[in-house]
Amino acid sequence: MVKSVLKFVLWTIVIAGSVSGCKDTSTNENTDTEYSAGSTTDLKVDFKDTGIKIQPTMYGVFFEDINFAADGGLYAEMVKNRSFEFTLPKMGWLEPNSDRHNLNTNSGFMTVIKRKGTTGNHNYARVEVKNDQGYVLENEGFRGMGVKQDAKYNISVKAAKQSGNIQEIHFQLVDSNGEAIGETMIEPKGTEWNTFTSQITASKTEKKAKLKIMFKGTGVIDLDMISLFPEDTWKGRKNGLRKDLVQLLADLNPGFLRFPGGCIVEGRTLARRYQWKKTVGPMEDREILVNRWNTEFDHRPTPDYYQSFGLGFFEYFQLSEDLGAEPLPILSCGIACQFNTGELVPMEELDPYVQDALDLIEFANGAVDTPWGRVRSDMGHPEPFNMKYIGVGNEQWGPAYIERYKVFAKAIKSKYPDMIIVSGSGPFPEGDYFDYGWEELKKLDAEIVDEHYYKPPQWFRDNATRYDEYDRSGPKIFAGEYAAQSVAIASPDNKNNWECALSEAAFMTGLERNAEVVHLSSYAPLMAHEEGWQWTPDLIWFNNLTSYGTPNYHVQKMYSTNPGTDLLKITKDGKALTGQENLYATVVKDSNKNKLIIKLVNTSDKAQNVSIDLSGGDVKSKGKTLTLTSPELSDVNSFEKPDNISPVEAEFNSEGHQAQLNLAAQSFTILSLELN
Ligand code: AHR
Repeated sequence: MVKSVLKFVLWTIVIAGSVSGCKDTSTNENTDTEYSAGSTTDLKVDFKDTGIKIQPTMYGVFFEDINFAADGGLYAEMVKNRSFEFTLPKMGWLEPNSDRHNLNTNSGFMTVIKRKGTTGNHNYARVEVKNDQGYVLENEGFRGMGVKQDAKYNISVKAAKQSGNIQEIHFQLVDSNGEAIGETMIEPKGTEWNTFTSQITASKTEKKAKLKIMFKGTGVIDLDMISLFPEDTWKGRKNGLRKDLVQLLADLNPGFLRFPGGCIVEGRTLARRYQWKKTVGPMEDREILVNRWNTEFDHRPTPDYYQSFGLGFFEYFQLSEDLGAEPLPILSCGIACQFNTGELVPMEELDPYVQDALDLIEFANGAVDTPWGRVRSDMGHPEPFNMKYIGVGNEQWGPAYIERYKVFAKAIKSKYPDMIIVSGSGPFPEGDYFDYGWEELKKLDAEIVDEHYYKPPQWFRDNATRYDEYDRSGPKIFAGEYAAQSVAIASPDNKNNWECALSEAAFMTGLERNAEVVHLSSYAPLMAHEEGWQWTPDLIWFNNLTSYGTPNYHVQKMYSTNPGTDLLKITKDGKALTGQENLYATVVKDSNKNKLIIKLVNTSDKAQNVSIDLSGGDVKSKGKTLTLTSPELSDVNSFEKPDNISPVEAEFNSEGHQAQLNLAAQSFTILSLELN
């Protein structure tokens, strides 16, 4: 988000440090759930069928290309600006032996040439090698290139010889000292564009490698799409996605994948909105776009952040399929980011935007003999992607949104009556814009409304009851973007600390307990590069070599891998447990696995006994607990200690019809018991 309004209205909320019911302490190291002396909170599980299902979409992931999440992250391309399309077309490229400023281009130089024609690939590089004095072209990667010892890396380059005779092009990976750690070469031939490929095996692990390109012979040669990918990608797909990062997503067992954002959908201006049609088809024709997050924040400028769309809509659908997640694309509704320009497409010019939505449905689901179904099929996926949801607008607000939403909804429903439309309620979880949006969307019988909350941890603990009073016959909820902010929204000092994660765990009991209205939820943002980030906190952190899940990730994972199928009730004195004694609870049955799953959060700085009456059901005495806790609320995971806060599993035995647990101070526990 953005500079003006945002800085004053939204991102200046400073969050108080220590809070009641969640005091920073280092005294508790008890992760043992064994019952101990002291007072006990009595809870009771009501096994009566509530008729309320936990939707398979309940816990999903929200992907946005922010923080180098796509280029420089999930999309495993290691060469930055591979086709010389950035606004400064030489960005990312170095010519260490050729210094134009000092007019020293004795060994050679590179010029960027603009193509004639209308494809998305506008530029290419023309290299003139003058002599054997060692002209070198280098690519710096995305804050370096992560290279692993013995791993293989695939080089691909388009080349066309212009004059003279450049016989060989050598590609070398060099470490941060400039030492070679792997190399290969190709022999370019012909004056027409041809693609040449080869492979490098790295002899050393290096986080900040560079790609060095050297030439044998002299002459002029044109180069384009200079690309380097690890061979070992997710599912071994050529030029695919980074394996460790997709694995972290797969481990979440997400019910849906929302893409491509976020504000990136809207663009700072309409011209820079995300246009899915420009992200499908042959890779080199995908026209790059400046990433809207590149200079959004003065505190984290990232001027070299562009979208290559190597991870485009086809790849997003494919990823959803790989993850077993429902694809949930969100499209521009003709309003640029309202924190930026808020540019509006006039109503009489909205048609192309609406057509984009209709065409997207055809691209995802249409038969192969439809125009867009054929594009999908030509890309290698004749089967439909079975898309069921489509989002209209991201974080829009006010009458301009409602006016445009109506047009989209009418057009989509007339052509695709079964498509479920997700609408938005703006960036704030309360206030005039929120109330107005909700009132109007209700009148329009909206199906699913997206709510966003970036709030202090205390807010999350206080809002476990948020959905208790929501109208059961109104629109369903997509808690589409949320994350506890340890300092203030958009502050670069926010941490993914234990207090935030624990508070989210407490809040999520309220999402689950209200599964009748809450059908989807996702933490945001999803990923951040150690050096290339703009926004914190984030669920997953990575650098060029490794990645780790934050405590917040583990909270999400504990929920999403234990979602259950049917909501039951757990009460204290007949009431839901929503913070009394700093305790929170929810219970589900998993009819497929025949299990009872109880989620318990203790936000107090003291361990607490709970005794759960299970007499109403037929529960086996043996079970398991999964506990996430940490001594200090300020604790975090890190590259050095990626598992500092991670769940611990233990055997559990109930006594008769009572499950008795000692919940560690500031802990999140899942108790699973088999049902007879
Ligand atoms: O998650 C980061 C940003 O926060 C999203 O792009 C936007 O929708 C929200 O304001």
